[in-house]
Amino acid sequence: MPIEKPKVLIADTDKSSVRLLQQILADEGYETLVCETGRETLTRFDALSPEIVLIDWALPDMLGLEILRQIRLLQKNRSVYVMFLTAKGLRENIIKGINGGADDFMVKPFYAEELKARVKAGTRLISLQKQLVERNTMLEEFVYTVTHDLRTPLIALQLTSKQAFEGTFGEMPRAYLPILETTRRSIDDLLSMVANLLQVAKYESGDKKKGIDPEIRTELGALCRECMAELQPIYKRKNIEVRLASNIQEVWVNVERQDLKRVILNLLDNAIKFTPAKGEIRLSIELANQKVIVNVQDSGLGIKREEAKLLFERFARAKSSRHAPGTGLGLYLCRRIVEAHGGAVDCIPRPQGGTTFSFLLPVAQSRV
Ligand SMILES: Nc1ncnc2c1ncn2[C@@H]1O[C@H](COP(=O)(O)OP(=O)(O)O)[C@@H](O)[C@H]1O
Ligand SMILES: [Mg+2]
Repeated sequence: MPIEKPKVLIADTDKSSVRLLQQILADEGYETLVCETGRETLTRFDALSPEIVLIDWALPDMLGLEILRQIRLLQKNRSVYVMFLTAKGLRENIIKGINGGADDFMVKPFYAEELKARVKAGTRLISLQKQLVERNTMLEEFVYTVTHDLRTPLIALQLTSKQAFEGTFGEMPRAYLPILETTRRSIDDLLSMVANLLQVAKYESGDKKKGIDPEIRTELGALCRECMAELQPIYKRKNIEVRLASNIQEVWVNVERQDLKRVILNLLDNAIKFTPAKGEIRLSIELANQKVIVNVQDSGLGIKREEAKLLFERFARAKSSRHAPGTGLGLYLCRRIVEAHGGAVDCIPRPQGGTTFSFLLPVAQSRV
């Protein structure tokens, strides 16, 4: 595949050096733009999106390092190859430049062949990064479509298996009931996984508006009880006791019900999954300084302190529990949802065994 020539922005005041750079790059088929101040460089960078930027060590109004720092903020998801131009012998500048995020450097006065080779290397890297981003987007879209399409037949299966279990199609031989029960549980697990994947995709694509919308309100206490009821068949089967401790009548937060439900269900589901039979799970809701804290405390497997914080990363799973079914997206999604609403998540191993997962959210202001 032929590599398209990227636009090159040159930020330098040294006329002879600029002339030389322009000439060499033009001969190679690159389009060049020249800026003489830091401010101009940033404005034109933002407007014209060049993919290669050559910056002199210092411009009249700004140091090259500062221009680089701002370019990195402006470029967002775009790939940009930045190269410093430095005077001979200033080795410490080269180190500072690369540590400051530059991809390459060139010492003045430069040789035409060296410039061509370095810009070509930059072009190659940009092209590879673009391909990576494209592939990644394609893969994400593919996963989203497949997951989305899985939902409909799964919901149909969930419904028919429920009806079969309830005898809607006639009486079922007794021996079939436990099998059907296992099937229903597997369908529920799959649907929960699908829901997590779809929510993650929504949060990552930026579809979900960031920030707090005062019009969206959900009551936490009732939702916790609803989640407990939904998972009751699973924890009852394991003889696990789940209790809710709250001395608050009701507490409202500005989070969509479905999103908040995913957070609670994921934490509760983990607590049940990683707690052996006959264990205990305790949910608590506490109010402090206009914040509400929900704790999910279990008497389960526990986690290592050094692993605790990492579990909220994408696909993260503790070493001790990799054998258990799961995707490692549940806690990541919890964090994304909670942080998008101005809150925080945490996970603390309990000294007496088990773990406490908690999340904090600002309490919704009462409507006037
Ligand atoms: N209550 C818990 N007790 C012990 N380990 C837990 C608990 N909750 C989560 N973990 C650990 O964190 C990992 C990530 O959890 P999660 O993101 O929900 O993914 P999944 O449940 O799909 O594995 C789990 O695989 C497990 O190693
Ligand atoms: Mg989970």
